[in-house]
Amino acid sequence: MTTSTTPANPTIFSGIKPTGEKTLGNYAGGFSQYVRYQEEGQAFFAVVDLHSVTVAYDPRTLAAQTLDLAALLFATGLDPARATVFVQSHVKGHAEGARLLASVTAYGDLKRMHQFKEKGEEQDFVSLALFDYPTLMAADILLYGTDLVPIGDDQRQHLELARDIATRFNSRFGATFTVPEGRYPEVGARVMDLQDPTRKMGTTSAEGGTIRLLDPPDVISKKIKAAVTDSGREVRYAPDKPGIANLLEILAVVTGTSIPELEASYADVGYGPFKVAVADAVVTLLEPVQARYHELRGDEAELRRLLATGAEKAAAASTGRLTTAYERMGFLAP
Ligand code: TRP
Repeated sequence: MTTSTTPANPTIFSGIKPTGEKTLGNYAGGFSQYVRYQEEGQAFFAVVDLHSVTVAYDPRTLAAQTLDLAALLFATGLDPARATVFVQSHVKGHAEGARLLASVTAYGDLKRMHQFKEKGEEQDFVSLALFDYPTLMAADILLYGTDLVPIGDDQRQHLELARDIATRFNSRFGATFTVPEGRYPEVGARVMDLQDPTRKMGTTSAEGGTIRLLDPPDVISKKIKAAVTDSGREVRYAPDKPGIANLLEILAVVTGTSIPELEASYADVGYGPFKVAVADAVVTLLEPVQARYHELRGDEAELRRLLATGAEKAAAASTGRLTTAYERMGFLAP
């Protein structure tokens, strides 16, 4: 995972939006990676609530969704003793940092962002917050001196922009920010929709196409058994078998076994028994996660305490660089 250019004890940062129910796709490309990264350096994971309010959302449920996601992050294995898990809006430096970095963000670059164009088209009201989403994301990352950003493939353009923003700030005002590197998931980066394996499994998928991390076990099994498959009967990872390939990806992610090994074990069992094996593996993975989630979510005082500690640690790690940025930009100190 670490490359020769990565420092020995890297700073790692990622952010996850609290809105939208989390799916097996989020687990594969996100949660399962975070757990590995917390072993590799100083890891920060922010529930990025300020990013959630860039598009239409429900203010009555935002706070609860923020707690839900925090509980899920701990339930999937983030350890508060190792990783700093916090809520973005609790650390005021993120909003301030975004304001400062706006001075070195090119309007033309923001206009070119694919996500802005796509999401902008989906919204009745296109906010300035949606337009400057990448600047806030750059602040998230840069304030911590982040070396590595574990992130989905769809966020490449935003990460590149964060690198440009850091570089521009450094050349204009003096070396202040580390230029971060993205780390993109390999296997299972793209868990596909069970009903339409040519598109990504996402919160917008139809009910039968997506496995939510909190779906009850019987619902999970039913959905996997009803997944579309392909013609033939051999379990093989091939472009003309997108349904079976997706189920192999899922099995690989949840069991940590390589796809060739899985092909060797399941080639001739037939689609039906193969699906049963996939369903059982997913349920085996998620049952204990769900149990921990419900326990954590049921003790809101404890959850808030964990998040308060996380916010303190995050503030301590980021204020220095924020102060330096104000100084380098020439502001009068208060
Ligand atoms: N934009 C990211 C996403 O949609 C979420 C995010 C916000 C993030 N700030 C970040 C990811 C900082 C990594 C680092 O997935």
